[in-house]
Amino acid sequence: MILKVGEANLLRKICRAVCSIVILAIKYIPFTLAMKLRNLCYRYVLKEMGNSNITDGVTIVHPGKVSIGDRVSIHPHTYLRGEITIGNYVAIAAKCSFVAESHNFADVTTPIKLQGIEDQPISIGNDVWIGAHSIILGNVTIGDGAIIGAGSVVTKNIAPYSVVMGSPARVVRNRKNNRDLQEKINQ
Ligand SMILES: CC(C)(COP(=O)(O)OP(=O)(O)OC[C@H]1O[C@@H](n2cnc3c(N)ncnc32)[C@H](O)[C@@H]1OP(=O)(O)O)[C@@H](O)C(=O)NCCC(=O)NCCS
Repeated sequence: MILKVGEANLLRKICRAVCSIVILAIKYIPFTLAMKLRNLCYRYVLKEMGNSNITDGVTIVHPGKVSIGDRVSIHPHTYLRGEITIGNYVAIAAKCSFVAESHNFADVTTPIKLQGIEDQPISIGNDVWIGAHSIILGNVTIGDGAIIGAGSVVTKNIAPYSVVMGSPARVVRNRKNNRDLQEKINQ
């Protein structure tokens, strides 16, 4: 059976709506079976979704703007808002926030809530570990292999393989330099 373009689009919309309802219904269920069903549903709801795990209590505000690669794990009660791209092999610990939107606030005569919202995309590379309770602000790119210490507030781009911590997050070392150093010591 060949579907016409209009019919296929309608079917896609229905599928997305059903999946969104299922995700909402099982959002806080922690069991593996619920996670598998959630992962499946997210494939129809997110912009892109690879072979990854989204645990219980995760909130994705604009799912159509979020891309998640393969082997990503997003742990409980993490919050994603706005245009967010996540690579492969990324570990996101519990209660992190990714805030890829910001209120405009230049005009002091108008309430901030009425000044509109600006998109500020976030991009996370491959093989990144983001510690618990971290906050990633908008317009931030985190490079491959970076580690974000627990409780960090990331306000600027993070170079690949950096280890950062604190608020605002500061680079404390680079994993590649450490490896180079270790190799020299071993020689
Ligand atoms: C970033 C991290 C990986 C660094 O680990 P590490 O290299 O072994 O660091 P150390 O424990 O040796 O600490 C080095 C210094 O950084 C400080 N530090 C470590 N983590 C910190 C953090 N998240 N924020 C602020 N300071 C931190 C330590 O107090 C120590 O300070 P000192 O030199 O003044 O004593 C680790 O501390 C971390 O935050 N891990 C995330 C854990 C997590 O969220 N797990 C969730 C389950 S996946």
